[in-house]
Amino acid sequence: MLELTHTTKTHDENRQGEALELAPTGKSDGRKLYIESYGCQMNFSDSEIVASILIDKGFETTKDYKEADVVFINTCSIRENAEQRVRNRLKEFESAKAKNPGMVVGVLGCMAERLKAKFLEEEKLVDVVVGPDAYRDLPNLIEKVDDGNKAVNVLLSREETYADISPVRLNSNGVSAFISIMRGCDNMCSFCVVPFTRGRERSRDTQSIIKEAQELFDAGYREVTLLGQNVDSYKYTPAVEEGEEPQAAVNFANLLELVAQVSPELRIRFSTSHPKDITDEVLYTIGRYENICKYIHLPVQSGNSRVLELMNRTYDREWYMERVEAIRRIIPECAISTDVITGFCTETEEEHQETLSMMDFVKYDFAYMFAYSERPGTLAAKRYADDIPEDIKKRRLTEVVNKQQEHSLERIQQYVGKVHKVLIEGFSKRSDQDYCGRNDQNTMVVFPVDARFKIGDYVHVLGESCTSATLIGRIVD
Ligand code: SAH
Ligand code: SF4
Ligand code: F3S
Repeated sequence: MLELTHTTKTHDENRQGEALELAPTGKSDGRKLYIESYGCQMNFSDSEIVASILIDKGFETTKDYKEADVVFINTCSIRENAEQRVRNRLKEFESAKAKNPGMVVGVLGCMAERLKAKFLEEEKLVDVVVGPDAYRDLPNLIEKVDDGNKAVNVLLSREETYADISPVRLNSNGVSAFISIMRGCDNMCSFCVVPFTRGRERSRDTQSIIKEAQELFDAGYREVTLLGQNVDSYKYTPAVEEGEEPQAAVNFANLLELVAQVSPELRIRFSTSHPKDITDEVLYTIGRYENICKYIHLPVQSGNSRVLELMNRTYDREWYMERVEAIRRIIPECAISTDVITGFCTETEEEHQETLSMMDFVKYDFAYMFAYSERPGTLAAKRYADDIPEDIKKRRLTEVVNKQQEHSLERIQQYVGKVHKVLIEGFSKRSDQDYCGRNDQNTMVVFPVDARFKIGDYVHVLGESCTSATLIGRIVD
């Protein structure tokens, strides 16, 4: 999944109306909640569930932690620097807490799950530590803190999918939203902490996903991103109703199709696809529906089969290349992005060259690139020495980044001179004279505002020039 870092600015008008209808009662009425999220989209999506749970108990959200009664930080453990960022941020909360000793400070998410009660010893200002499967317990845990205790719940679950909780859309543009379709991961890639912080893989009830997509569409949203660590292994078997025949299990291709049928005006994106599991059936489904975006995030990690084996990715270089060829054959206009790790345990210079040659083979549209960071408790940490010196990891990373820069530019240049269907997401970061939105291939497109069109509309934009990250054009409707 793509990794994001930003502050959730928490206000959602519609939902607050709804919360009032629910007539919350109790001692949390009017208390102010601030949530900040780090890490992948799943964490951002979880923060929306947390907000929903607490708004139902009478909380209001705030954008300013200094005025909050409850400050939550939803954390990521994927690399050491992700954790360091969280610790630095906690330091900044110290002075706010000194001024307002009643303030509850909570750590949620993957770092909470990884460190558990240890967190309370390491960071004195923290009052409550809550893992990703325990958010329903938050109101109760906050009460414990109100009574003068510290509180921890890091139980992982085999069933929890929060399927019945309607997320409060935080920091939303009102156009695109995330929908979690599964939780956890069963893959055990040797470098990865996620199976330990997120627990076992489980898929969410298909009907609840479709209902959420429908409700978003009815509320004016025009794009949903289906989220899971490995969406291709989505599998939901509907419960058998009394007197009825058992229904067939729903796989990811079926799910994509069902969500695509909500409306042709609703764009569908998804992340992350695992190279070992992405099937031709999924590719044909993407090809068949105009509203399923022609964009696949297919993390390769390494281009070398020996390293892939050590990483326990369960595919090799040839398998990955075959999957890319299948994408090119079945969905010729599809964009492909990736994740790369440089300097994994024992990686030789020649093996690193194979990552570069894989990049030349695929010509990725986009990539997230990382130097290997050993995570305590993972298979790699137990089995292999983290033996590539930091400067070599970094030099290899620079080579990968430079190559990707060239490829991104090359890929985006092919969009110049062509017309793209773009969903207007908002104003461009640089100027409110320009709109921004993405084309089908997930390329950011910037174009002058045209009074005939508003945020949430589809427009046709002619690409006129580009940088390596943005296509610049004008509306031709
Ligand atoms: N489920 C997704 C990945 C989630 S983590 C998938 O299988 O692709 C996002 C990315 O972080 C991974 O793809 C990997 O490239 C990177 N990553 C994970 N653990 C890492 C580590 N220990 N050091 C460096 N990068 C890591
Ligand atoms: Fe981590 Fe691998 Fe699972 Fe992705 S598929 S979350 S990299 S264990
Ligand atoms: Fe996501 Fe980071 Fe956890 S990438 S699953 S928030 S470790």
